Amino acid sequence: MATDLHRAVTVQGLTRSFDGRPVVDGLDLTLRAGQFTALLGHSGCGKSTLLRILAGLDREISGTVLVPRRRAVAFQAPRLMPWKKVWRNVLLGLPGKPGRAVAEKALDEVGLGHRSGAWPKTLSGGEAQRASLARALVRDPDLLLLDEPFGALDALTRLKAQRLVAELWQRRGCTVLLVTHDVDEALLLADRALVMRDGVIAYDTAVDLDRPRSPGDPALAGLRTRLLAELGVTEGEFAESATA
Ligand SMILES: Nc1ncnc2c1ncn2[C@@H]1O[C@H](COP(=O)(O)OP(=O)(O)O)[C@@H](O)[C@H]1O
Ligand SMILES: [Mg+2]
Repeated sequence: MATDLHRAVTVQGLTRSFDGRPVVDGLDLTLRAGQFTALLGHSGCGKSTLLRILAGLDREISGTVLVPRRRAVAFQAPRLMPWKKVWRNVLLGLPGKPGRAVAEKALDEVGLGHRSGAWPKTLSGGEAQRASLARALVRDPDLLLLDEPFGALDALTRLKAQRLVAELWQRRGCTVLLVTHDVDEALLLADRALVMRDGVIAYDTAVDLDRPRSPGDPALAGLRTRLLAELGVTEGEFAESATA
């Protein structure tokens, strides 16, 4: 699927400013259909801003943005409505009146079918994040946008969630853009890694390794060092932040 040359996303000369300050500043980007891309960059460099634009949530832009009509986004915080049961949260905002079975199919896909009738506050952090993922999947997206979806999870839950996203992507074949601050997560999951800096894609590399991958595969050591350098962190600092 990653060899399909069809473009899913085309961005040209994209600019978005806040209070006169450009956060996205003449950015160009194309994503191939079916490709899994990780977007790295310092906190505050504009990753979420770019994702919100691709999701169609922010239209105060200049430049060209071509995206598939069917797209969905999941954020770091699951954003579930506490007064709606899990299955109703999954269907939130969907056109028509889809039935509970539609929600449960998506919940099954993330291993959460048995929690369909639960209240959000009774879910664990990992379960809530999976519910949020189900809410994205129920839209049957051609483009799945993920904004640090594992950032708040503990290490083990995070590993499971990463594996789940890899499975979903392989099964569905949709285009994925994953924002992460974790170089190792990018190398574990993505076909391609981007580093955003000064409002543009400052570094763009293929991640050429067969799957399934294991975290910290030595074949990716060189690329890991390069990405950390692009982010301006040394390996020692990164290890500290990973264990903090
Ligand atoms: N709605 C907004 N109003 C004003 N400034 C914003 C708004 N959204 C984002 N910004 C600013 O844009 C910059 C990039 O933010 P963001 O895209 O959230 O960064 P990242 O996701 O890479 O951490 C930050 O300086 C942030 O303060
Ligand atoms: Mg962000």
